[in-house]
Amino acid sequence: MTARTLSPLDRILADSQRALETVFARPPAHRPNPAADTPDVVLHEDERRHAAGLMRINHVGEVCAQALYVGQASVARDAGTRAHLLAAAQEETDHLAWCADRLHELDSRPSLLNPLWYAGSYAIGLLAGLRGDGWNLGFVVETERQVEAHLDEHLQRLPPADARSRAILSQMKIDEARHADNAQAAGARALPMPIPRLMSLASKVMKAVAYRV
Ligand SMILES: [Fe+2]
Ligand SMILES: [Fe+2]
Repeated sequence: MTARTLSPLDRILADSQRALETVFARPPAHRPNPAADTPDVVLHEDERRHAAGLMRINHVGEVCAQALYVGQASVARDAGTRAHLLAAAQEETDHLAWCADRLHELDSRPSLLNPLWYAGSYAIGLLAGLRGDGWNLGFVVETERQVEAHLDEHLQRLPPADARSRAILSQMKIDEARHADNAQAAGARALPMPIPRLMSLASKVMKAVAYRV
């Protein structure tokens, strides 16, 4: 509601603060961690490292989701579209916090390149948003569908004993599907080729790098 009364300068400052919080702080989740009741099992060293690599990718994905939605919201034309994007970003904050918690439990750390991932995704969000609200929502649908498919793949690739990471990704997958459905219902346009293919290519590069760095 307050977003409607923000001046352009206010919005730049609010977006900058959010970027710094996402990249350098640990924004708290508003919902309980889905793994809270799942017992933690000590993993073999190679399994722990593999699980940490996958959860770092998922954490980067959530950093990118924050940046995309905030970028898209800042240029959304309709107040309803902006509210829609910011509500989705709020749920992504839960995902971000859960992935950060799990990385910490796995004795690992987020990607060192998070400032870069954030800046790139924010720029992409701005570009998508500037094409108009139909495109803006279409971009949400395509992003969320690709993330949903990617989470499915990670659910299979996680070490079988890592039930805590699996509990987190399962809840995220449910949320991402809902984000896509909501954006579709709000009037998303289907994105033309080659945009979906370029998005999938960009996320492949991100995954290859974030697994290690
Ligand atoms: Fe998410
Ligand atoms: Fe999402």
